[in-house]
Amino acid sequence: MQNVLVTGGAGFIGSNFVRYLLEAEPQVEIVNLDALTYAGSLENLKDLPDPDRHKFIHGEIGDRSRIDQILRDHAIDTVIHFAAETHVDRSILGPAQFVETNIVGTFILLEAARHYWLVESALSSEVRFHHISTDEVFGSLGTNDPPFSENTPYAPNSPYAASKAASDHLVRSYGHTYGLPFSITNCSNNYGPYQFPEKLIPLMISNALKGLPLPIYGDGKQVRDWLYVEDHCQAIREVIKTGIPGETYIVGGNTQPTNLLVVTTLCEILDECLPNSAYLPHESLVTYVTDRPGHDRRYAMDISKISTDLGWTPRQSLAEGLLKTVEWYLEHQDWVDAIGNKEDYQDWLNRNYLTRGGEK
Ligand code: NAD
Ligand code: DAU
Repeated sequence: MQNVLVTGGAGFIGSNFVRYLLEAEPQVEIVNLDALTYAGSLENLKDLPDPDRHKFIHGEIGDRSRIDQILRDHAIDTVIHFAAETHVDRSILGPAQFVETNIVGTFILLEAARHYWLVESALSSEVRFHHISTDEVFGSLGTNDPPFSENTPYAPNSPYAASKAASDHLVRSYGHTYGLPFSITNCSNNYGPYQFPEKLIPLMISNALKGLPLPIYGDGKQVRDWLYVEDHCQAIREVIKTGIPGETYIVGGNTQPTNLLVVTTLCEILDECLPNSAYLPHESLVTYVTDRPGHDRRYAMDISKISTDLGWTPRQSLAEGLLKTVEWYLEHQDWVDAIGNKEDYQDWLNRNYLTRGGEK
């Protein structure tokens, strides 16, 4: 990995990864292509370590001629593909953009990489297309089902999950048919700095700070596996450096609380950090709202392949990770204000909340 194209590097995980990789790999040059949708922001890329090795390009993964030019101009040997529409609730309210970005966009990126690496130049053994995917492609687990593994059949339930499943299949097919060297990581729920406050953890923190309701979908007993974002960044680097081309790896945090437990833990942390808050105890803000349609009940991850083969395990416990995350949001109120005041975001929050029967 020398000349890396990161797509979606102004989003949550992508920006954390750019920051991480600049520190971890002193020889790497990064081109960061991002369309700056509502979810992406240059605010996420301030204060990068060694910024001269990072070049930001504002553009779309669906712009084939632009991608061709970037691959050639920067002699890209590694594509790390984060760019996507990522929020399940938005995919339910408007699935079209998910098909366009996650399926068609990934296809265009694959075509450009195939052409540049396998047709135009002869770089094929030195290159890698790494696709960032999700555990949601596997669907929902029953209480006694074993955790997701690399052998679990795909059964995506939301338009988001289906679009990510389709993109995984496209990536795999480019390896099988054309010999494109690829790898895929299917990861669980990430949390940490720079996460857009539409997702559970940053939404709860940002609402709690304003004394707004903390909306729990359904009974709040849904289970997710949670991974601190820096652990995910380490796993991605490990898979690209030492993972076998053509393989997929499950990545997870080995911790599976209910949503309600995550939210009440955040409330307890906020109570301790802000003993003079006007909203104590923050748990009193918890409000049950209509469930997400088709809501997956339970995810769990079997990380034995990546642990055994590549020696990667998550380092951050959930308790420490949540504390660090709350502290980060408290220390970065400027970021929260800049991101949270986007007009599109406020509109969407209102629509989502009203759809769920919340009182405005
Ligand atoms: P995010 O929504 O925070 O960021 C997505 C980024 O992609 C944004 O910066 C956006 O501007 C950019 N983007 C969107 N459409 C684009 C396009 N057409 N061209 C170029 N850029 C575009 O997402 P995230 O949470 O950081 O997720 C990153 C990746 O990780 C996604 O592929 C997602 O499916 C996957 N993933 C996320 C999680 C999670 O918990 N957040 C877990 C597992 C996997
Ligand atoms: O599992 C990996 C996936 O995790 C990623 O692929 C997705 O990109 C990412 O958005 C995330 O999907 P989820 O739907 O699991 O994340 P979200 O933060 O939206 O919701 C987490 C859980 O909390 C889920 O069960 C729904 C619930 N929830 C969410 C919100 C926003 C609430 O109860 N209330 C809320 O307000």
